[in-house]
Amino acid sequence: MTKDSLTLDAPATDDLQLGPRDGSNSRKVFIKTYGCQMNVYDSTRMSDALSRDGYEPTEDMEEADLVLLNTCHIREKAAEKVYSALGRLREMKKRKAADGREMMIGVTGCVAQAEGEEILRRAPAVDVVIGPQTYHRLPDALRRAKEGQRVVDTEYAIEDKFEHLPIAEKTKIRARGVTAFLTVQEGCDKFCTFCVVPYTRGSEVSRPVAQIVEEAEKLVDGGVREITLLGQNVNAWHGAGPTGEAWSLGDLLYRLAEIPGLARLRYTTSHPRDMDDRLIGAHRDLRTLMPYLHLPVQAGSDRILKAMNRRHTAAEYLALIEKIRAARPDIALSGDFIVGFPGETDQDFEDTLKLIEEVNYAQAFSFKYSTRPGTPGADLKDQVPEEVKTERLERLQALLLKQQHAFAEACVGKTVDILLEKPGRMPGQLIGRSPWLQSVNVDAKASQIGDIINVRITGTSTNSLFADLL
Ligand code: SAH
Ligand code: SF4
Ligand code: F3S
Repeated sequence: MTKDSLTLDAPATDDLQLGPRDGSNSRKVFIKTYGCQMNVYDSTRMSDALSRDGYEPTEDMEEADLVLLNTCHIREKAAEKVYSALGRLREMKKRKAADGREMMIGVTGCVAQAEGEEILRRAPAVDVVIGPQTYHRLPDALRRAKEGQRVVDTEYAIEDKFEHLPIAEKTKIRARGVTAFLTVQEGCDKFCTFCVVPYTRGSEVSRPVAQIVEEAEKLVDGGVREITLLGQNVNAWHGAGPTGEAWSLGDLLYRLAEIPGLARLRYTTSHPRDMDDRLIGAHRDLRTLMPYLHLPVQAGSDRILKAMNRRHTAAEYLALIEKIRAARPDIALSGDFIVGFPGETDQDFEDTLKLIEEVNYAQAFSFKYSTRPGTPGADLKDQVPEEVKTERLERLQALLLKQQHAFAEACVGKTVDILLEKPGRMPGQLIGRSPWLQSVNVDAKASQIGDIINVRITGTSTNSLFADLL
């Protein structure tokens, strides 16, 4: 998922050094977000941190005094995009300088973490490079950069960044909409052999219950109806309950479900190994917890799963799905798949298709294996040729698409609750969200945004559903 920029309405506060000194227009920051939902969340928090220094968000790069690229390193293409964007930004910076206007450029996120100093070498226009664990220090880094230093800060900070980041004011939260992300866990200790995340996000850290509850309450107070808890391994979250007892994600969900006004909870992304009984029980018991689960398996061949270091078999995954469906029969399943992992044979690939047939996914994301420097997968022999990967991906996606369409078609005629989120394309239309994360177009008034209404699904289109009010 990508998001181009953030539409926020930060009031300018001039009290800090970076604020405008002449009382004229405040400074503007443009943030381009690549990668996963956690980067979307991080961009929001960076924007809040910068608003204390007088930076207002803008969606127009041309008027920006600061451009931040919040980057993703997951596949080669994702990382390469950043360098081509930086090439274009260099030209813009030169052009603005010729007009006597200054524009600073910062690289944050996972490419920043992975490449650090290398970014300064390859991209001379960059002023600051800040990793995902140090972005609370961004305002300070910008101050130093203003004095002419080029700053790289990619250390794993010992302090808790969340303690140093402001939570947005009510009006700002309201302006962002009725759904929100909330990071509860970050980093990963799983070390799948294809993946850069343990190196870019660091080891697994869980935020404490009180901090999470406080943030969730503030969001709800600002008008948020649905919260999606985020983590690279969100179901590995662990903490302590009121009397010090060990809590897992299931316990946290029961606690958050008690917040008055919070109508819906979701969480992503989960690892099959961390799907414990308490969490499955939460799916059975909590109506607030939406019947949707993103549970990536990556492959359906035990040999490949082992080589990927996923630490479970295809049969174990299928047994888990069965258990989850027994607890919550209407749950929609979503997954991630990689084709062409080194050594993947035709038979291994057929096993993946077979697993997909058995699970029947409502939604899925699939990728060609991309060699990532520094991961164990990069050293494996038997890399799969590009054209084989292409062909496998096409077959896999055709199957997944068929399942997705069948899932959508099966919704037609059903009555469901949707959360009205935002204006639709047509006047008088709103877009709502079904419990299964589908977009639903319905005729409703703008004043109803934030309401949960009961509708009848009447039809489907490529990426959304149509519904009538009941
Ligand atoms: N923590 C999540 C995944 C985060 S990365 C999990 O364990 O499932 C999101 C997805 O990107 C992964 O699920 C995987 O399908 C894909 N991915 C990660 N590294 C990749 C690589 N090197 N090549 C291709 N796809 C990759
Ligand atoms: Fe990457 Fe595996 Fe960790 Fe997911 S569990 S973030 S795929 S290493
Ligand atoms: Fe990309 Fe980092 Fe997220 S590599 S997928 S932005 S954790």
